[in-house]
Amino acid sequence: MKHLLSLYDWSPEEILETLDLADELKKDNKEGREHHYLKGKTLGMIFSKSSTRTRVSFEVGMYQLGGHALFLSSNDIQLGRGETIYDTANVLSRYLDGIMIRTFKQQDVVDLSVYGQIPIINGLTDDEHPCQVLADLQTIREKKGTLKGLKMAYIGDGNNMAHSLMHGATKTGMDISVATPSNYQCQSKFVNQAIEIAAQTGSKVTITQDPVLAIKDADVVVTDTWASMGQESEKAERVKVFGPYQINKEMFDLAKSDAIFMHCLPAYRGYEVTDDVIDSPRSVIFDEAENRLHAQKAVMVKLMK
Ligand code: CP
Ligand code: NVA
Repeated sequence: MKHLLSLYDWSPEEILETLDLADELKKDNKEGREHHYLKGKTLGMIFSKSSTRTRVSFEVGMYQLGGHALFLSSNDIQLGRGETIYDTANVLSRYLDGIMIRTFKQQDVVDLSVYGQIPIINGLTDDEHPCQVLADLQTIREKKGTLKGLKMAYIGDGNNMAHSLMHGATKTGMDISVATPSNYQCQSKFVNQAIEIAAQTGSKVTITQDPVLAIKDADVVVTDTWASMGQESEKAERVKVFGPYQINKEMFDLAKSDAIFMHCLPAYRGYEVTDDVIDSPRSVIFDEAENRLHAQKAVMVKLMK
């Protein structure tokens, strides 16, 4: 049984195969070809946090694959009232063909995969966001024609996106520089995993507090919100610290002249990014958001077919 809990668990070949399939499914869509690879199958989507892109792209994706998706807010199912992950995993495995879950603890996603009998897809935890990064890789490859040898700069909070981008970049042979304030660094577990992968794929990992160093000569510039879901009460304090990490025109100009700007969205304009960057011709945010649909369909076909 294969899951998508973390991109760390997937080989470079599996990731590239998934991107190829995502491209193929996208082409089918654009040319009006149906592809009902998951006819008669049902995906359960458990959400303990808000979502626009993940919810809509998984639901539409299942429909386009000939299957059906069920939205399960953790407020409405018994999991939110204390039913165990063990019982939930075993019960839902009797009805569903796969589960996508967005929640707080990565361990809850791992536990679902251990106790259940169906594929589990991580739709974001406090630690990782692998589905987003597959869409990001698909987008970079579309725009740049390749992944290997490019330089990605991630500037901002050392959060779930930073962790999964380190996995995705190093697995596909991209160099990655991550710049965060000193108290908001990536967890050392993920830095160590990235360094380990980079040693196998020949890519380079740079961890710094200096955004100027990180962004220099970058082909791809990425940022994310300074206060993730669950950190709303820290926002005022974070805004004070993160100012020098804003991607504004002056900062973006330090990257390569043909660098692209990416953001998983939702974006907080005027904080982590300014309008002149996010609305510029080199911003690819809406293609990136669209590719959530194609990349996740590829994941579901791979895991649930
Ligand atoms: N990027 C992303 O996961 O967006 P949502 O929170 O809207 O799903
Ligand atoms: N880091 C953000 C990503 C949102 C898609 C969060 O976890 O809220």
